[in-house]
Amino acid sequence: MEKRKIVVTSALPYANGALHLGHLVEYLQTDFWVRYQKMMGHDCVYVCADDTHGTPIMIRARKEGITPEALINRSYRARVKEFGAFEMGFDLYGSTNCDENRALSESIYLRLKERGLISRRSVEQLYCEHCGMFLPGRFVKGTCPKCGAKDQYGDGCEVCNATYNANELVEPYCAVCGGKPVMRASEQLFFELEPFRDFLKAWIPAHTDAATAGKLLEWFNEPLRGWNISRDKPYFGFAIPGEQDKFFYVWLDAPVGYMATLERWAKARGETLEAWWQDPKAEVYHFIGKDIIRFHCLFWPALLENAGWRTPTQVFVHGFLQVNGEKMSKSKGTFVSAATYLKHLPAQALRFYYACKLNGTVDDMDLNLQDFVGRVNSDLVGKITNLASRGAQMINKSCGGTLGAMDLESRALLAECRAQLPEVLAAYEKRDFCRAMVLVREWADKANQLFDAKMPWKLVKEDVEATRAVLTGTLNLFRLMAIALKPILPSYTEKVEKLFGEAPYTFADAEKRLEGGAIGAYEHLAARIDPKAVEAMVEASKETLKETAKTLTEKDAKKGARQLATKPAETVFPEPLAETISIEDFAKVDLRVATVLTAEAVEGSDKLLHLTLDVGEAKPRNVFAGIRKSYAPEALIGQQVVMVANLAPRKMRFGVSEGMIVASTDPDGSFRVMQPVTPTAPGARLH
Ligand code: 2FM
Ligand code: ZN
Repeated sequence: MEKRKIVVTSALPYANGALHLGHLVEYLQTDFWVRYQKMMGHDCVYVCADDTHGTPIMIRARKEGITPEALINRSYRARVKEFGAFEMGFDLYGSTNCDENRALSESIYLRLKERGLISRRSVEQLYCEHCGMFLPGRFVKGTCPKCGAKDQYGDGCEVCNATYNANELVEPYCAVCGGKPVMRASEQLFFELEPFRDFLKAWIPAHTDAATAGKLLEWFNEPLRGWNISRDKPYFGFAIPGEQDKFFYVWLDAPVGYMATLERWAKARGETLEAWWQDPKAEVYHFIGKDIIRFHCLFWPALLENAGWRTPTQVFVHGFLQVNGEKMSKSKGTFVSAATYLKHLPAQALRFYYACKLNGTVDDMDLNLQDFVGRVNSDLVGKITNLASRGAQMINKSCGGTLGAMDLESRALLAECRAQLPEVLAAYEKRDFCRAMVLVREWADKANQLFDAKMPWKLVKEDVEATRAVLTGTLNLFRLMAIALKPILPSYTEKVEKLFGEAPYTFADAEKRLEGGAIGAYEHLAARIDPKAVEAMVEASKETLKETAKTLTEKDAKKGARQLATKPAETVFPEPLAETISIEDFAKVDLRVATVLTAEAVEGSDKLLHLTLDVGEAKPRNVFAGIRKSYAPEALIGQQVVMVANLAPRKMRFGVSEGMIVASTDPDGSFRVMQPVTPTAPGARLH
């Protein structure tokens, strides 16, 4: 089998929104597929990132009175934790607000500009003079021009489902401050699509499923509209080179974020983006929801093609999540956040259930909560896991903890099931996880029938060796199921590997029979779900919403306005999941305890304090620390702090800084210097 080189992405979640069970339909199916590819032995890399730019993030930060950078850093940390809890195996989870993304977005844009593909047009939009900004559709409300319903958003009416432009709303008002907006014209930059009509018409059916292609091609009955890729200040995003106060629309730099994150991942391994994205043998796949096909199947391929980058191999589109047969509902408590789910239920139960339902089509998927409990309890726990718990516990208790040779019937059944493994793998490849689960469940049914027929709990009283043979068979059948389930239940299978004392499974391990040899202690693999926990989760989801339903107040908006970053975003790259430093790198940092001798505010700077520090050397060190907003200088005198003592001296406007003190940042952006718990000799080294 030839080793494939595969790049996989999931849509980048917005940094300002909480992850919910709908999002997880996408992340989990991508994770299943990537884990399957890796288990097949292919070189597969899975990247994703926070989608950090745009007006909603800027407004949310304003509302909280923090900078957008502080907001995206905070949300990054929360998301990484949640993804970790759901056993997501990203190779790198990054952020669109990174240097690589800025550079790639700029270079793609400049390439298009050079080729004369960017045009300028004056566009009239609603502008709020009070907020000092143009209002995107979700930030203007008013009366629906079609049905007269009040308080509808500028991009469509939730009562009659009509879509319209924000400037068609009757009596529009700014959703942020409630003020009356005015029409204002400004020049915008457009990437024209019409010249690529033929390219796209051929590209779309070749790179996406028939249903999606059919939908996209409907738009080709009319001239393709140019895509507005610019936004005016204030905007949290990347400044457009060569333009005054204009930023890239978030949807330009978001998909570029796939490449930027891949580039960061590649660089960390001493490789290049080109070696992956541009390798003609490499395959690139995007998993996305059906709501964002326009961006991924029109703009994105046209952009890449014209900027000299390869286009994706295939865009895999999935439908939406329904709960109990209906749209997720905030009032019914079926709009469940990932965090709320995790408070009540185990992540692997959702992984298993989603796998049972996902079939690789664009159809919506239903999470029926009763069925969810049933499938997990009867299939995962009752049928599959019970084979291991009964088999292993009985072997350990009554057969000295060692396997024997399988009995003939088990051997035959194992061969029969194993012969179906290629069908399971083919189903995984097609993202028809549901089919793969049906097959595994059938194996479990047959294994249980055999177990019941052999009655090892009775047999053990008469013939230990015959019992050992039966249980060896049961455990081998279970082992095959665990191998087949590994892409879906990675930590579960890890415990199975440990139980049998084996190295991490690949599908090739299914060939092996485990006979003779000791097994380990049985570790609990999966718990039954108490329906009450599901009810509690639904109840808690109703409550969560009461809390988040608060609207932005005038006071919030004004407070935030003072903090609003009108300058280009500073590049922040929070710690990516998979990026590490070696112990040698860490050992290079000379961290020492220091006592603050003097502290004073630096004139002409609202950020800096000038400190002199006793680090146990003959001469105190001069350090300029940017913590003024959190500390009065006199409060620091006599305190002990931690300093990086071997930082190269830095010449600053106010003098030379001979080190740096270590501080943490609270969610509100304030600083707290790190201090030893007990008085420590100045100069003591930290390890
Ligand atoms: O729809 C969304 O949630 C977007 N944040 C997805 C971006 S996908 C990619 F283009 F970055
Ligand atoms: Zn306003």
